[in-house]
Amino acid sequence: MSGKRVLVVDAGGRGNAIAHAFARSAAVEIVYVAPGNAGSEMMEKCRLAAGQGKALKSISELLDFAKKESIDLTFVGPEGYLSEGIVNIFQEEGQRILGPRREAAILEGSKCYTKDLLKRLRVPVPPCQNFADADEAREYVRSTLAEDPEKGLVIKADGLAAGKGTVVCSSQEEALSTIDRIMVSPRLFGPAGNKIEIEERLEGRELMFFALSDGGTVLPLQSAMDYKQAYAADEGVAIRLFNKLSGNPNLDNNPNTGGMGGFSPHPWLDEELTEKIIKRIAVPTVRGFKEATAQEYTGVIYFGLMISDEKDVHVLEINVRLGDPEAEVILPRLKTDFYQLSMAMLDRRLRGVQLEWSPNFCLGVCATSGRAIKPLSSGGSERPGYPGEHYTNMPISGLEKVDPDVLVYHNGTAFGNDAQGKRRLFTTGGRVLTLVARGRTLAEARTRAYDNIKRIRFNGMRYRKDIGLAYL
Ligand code: AMP
Ligand code: GLY
Repeated sequence: MSGKRVLVVDAGGRGNAIAHAFARSAAVEIVYVAPGNAGSEMMEKCRLAAGQGKALKSISELLDFAKKESIDLTFVGPEGYLSEGIVNIFQEEGQRILGPRREAAILEGSKCYTKDLLKRLRVPVPPCQNFADADEAREYVRSTLAEDPEKGLVIKADGLAAGKGTVVCSSQEEALSTIDRIMVSPRLFGPAGNKIEIEERLEGRELMFFALSDGGTVLPLQSAMDYKQAYAADEGVAIRLFNKLSGNPNLDNNPNTGGMGGFSPHPWLDEELTEKIIKRIAVPTVRGFKEATAQEYTGVIYFGLMISDEKDVHVLEINVRLGDPEAEVILPRLKTDFYQLSMAMLDRRLRGVQLEWSPNFCLGVCATSGRAIKPLSSGGSERPGYPGEHYTNMPISGLEKVDPDVLVYHNGTAFGNDAQGKRRLFTTGGRVLTLVARGRTLAEARTRAYDNIKRIRFNGMRYRKDIGLAYL
């Protein structure tokens, strides 16, 4: 029998980590990645899927490719394609594809819908309310804070906003201006901000919990610590400069990103907590969603959780996919064959599956496009950097100096020619590369990741220096 042919749909580091996991399966002959990036061909068996030399992006292009190349399994990384219904479209054409259908992707696509559903299912969420009208939202903020001025509020755009649609507010003034900026002007997240959710700010420790669902059985994946804020807490000067350059009224706001780094395994996720999350949150959500909608949830489900000192757990958000950069630090530790595991999810055979993990730690640090001034000769001005406006198309150097066993997953890169006509790697996005190092201890993985990231350079390159630091 010939080997299996897999297509991974993703443009970032997560997609390259997923492709790498498939490539390690003895059953797999080739893994195509689309749209992919310059890093998609760097792992053995992995190739960019291209049509007439161009990266494939639209669902119809991807479907044509899957048919033409006799793809056995397509695996979808990002929420956008899932919300657009890529799974429905592939299934209607008889293609095997893993991920939730459009109807289930609403669990990430609408925070308002999801919080209402979870409340009905008695899955614990922070006290929260939805608003489609900015005046009503402002009134709610004023009356809530009149009752308890100490209460913290978190304002979330309802729809998809690349992980940036949540603002943790520290004052009434900030909450009111956030409502304006999302719902009225400049409508920071476009139509994703037609509705908002306002929720009470909870204190505690955050945990990103991943599970696999075949529609019936929910199997926990090992978890990862993610660093969502752009800056470490002690980078006050950089935070103020970022906000000043971005025109943000609150100069001390540490902005959220898609993720700046992480590590796995997660230090707090023991068996007892895993069981509690599965029983109280994951299983009731998957089963309750099916009862409410008659739709099954198949694929990876990701719960953003807040854990209190008493180990009470609340759901802050649900995502319908693996996280980025969580996938980059979780998947290299998975010893179970990822192709067989994916087929078990599709064929409803997850019950009884035992996952095998490497005992090693993985720690990943994202190199991002930070504050930069383009040479005036190119007409550039100063930009605050990711997650705000940033420059791209900066040449990257030093990758050849990275140790061979350190994994370099590309988030936003492309090959091009420099001014001298030499083929080089360039930046194409806010997150550029995620370096993942392994170690027998967290400290060892951390030292190796930071030793190696220093060897890489591009104009404006910035990374957090504190990934894993508080957990040594
Ligand atoms: P979300 O987009 O809902 O995942 O929120 C992004 C980040 O905002 C979370 O990872 C938390 O750090 C923070 N956050 C969201 N909701 C709350 C909340 N209710 N209380 C405290 N922090 C929150
Ligand atoms: N790292 C957070 C996310 O992927 O949503």
